[in-house]
Amino acid sequence: MLKLEKLQAWYGRSHILQGIDLEVNKGELVCLIGRNGAGKTTTLRAVMGLTSRAEGRVVFDGQDILKLPTHRRNGLGLGYVPEERRIVPGMSVRDNLRLGLLASHHTAREADVIAEIAETFPRLAERLDQDATTMSGGEQQMLAIARAMVSKPKLLMLDEPSEGIMPVLVDEMFALFARLRDGGTTILLVEQNVELALGIADRAYIMDQGEIVYQADAKALLADAEIQERYCSV
Ligand SMILES: Nc1ncnc2c1ncn2[C@@H]1O[C@H](COP(=O)(O)OP(=O)(O)O)[C@@H](O)[C@H]1O
Ligand SMILES: [Mg+2]
Repeated sequence: MLKLEKLQAWYGRSHILQGIDLEVNKGELVCLIGRNGAGKTTTLRAVMGLTSRAEGRVVFDGQDILKLPTHRRNGLGLGYVPEERRIVPGMSVRDNLRLGLLASHHTAREADVIAEIAETFPRLAERLDQDATTMSGGEQQMLAIARAMVSKPKLLMLDEPSEGIMPVLVDEMFALFARLRDGGTTILLVEQNVELALGIADRAYIMDQGEIVYQADAKALLADAEIQERYCSV
């Protein structure tokens, strides 16, 4: 579904990604972990075309998308939930979901889309007409994810979705990711919460200083305290 080959990326003159090779197969949940500053966010941003320069190959669903503008990448079925959730103040949950539909290339009826989302995200269904910014951080994160799901992405990329969120909602969120994967959505998850992420992931990559330094089956990595200590302790 997604294949990065020798992907390099820059912000201005700073050379951040040093040549990333990473693959996410259809139906997989893959997590990308590593210390602060390792380059995880930059990797997702490079996949979306949001770095100032990138080289190498980004193959998505059989097509090299490296030179495509961000909106075209969205249109091909890449969903991205950045670290900053960008919930629009003064807008209801329903309106935020409408925005997701407007931004997507789907022509589905709004009522159907909202009904479908409400089923997957029961917390949002109870709050459709509430001002979205009055919800808790975790609920706003759920909304950001739901808004990305409105366009039925083939690949959903999430950047540290559990950051700053109450543990009870984090558990709910991770259960949701596992359900989305089981329902056929391919997921690339960036997480600091290594144990939880490895608990639901199929495979994992570890980044350090702009490079992939380790890759493994998630269960094997979960059992490997030494590797986790070496690359993941903040
Ligand atoms: N907009 C930017 N301009 C210049 N350097 C940046 C920018 N964003 C991130 N960086 C640098 O890129 C490196 C990787 O950052 P990032 O991808 O955010 O890491 P992570 O998400 O793993 O914490 C860091 O050294 C960071 O300082
Ligand atoms: Mg980051």
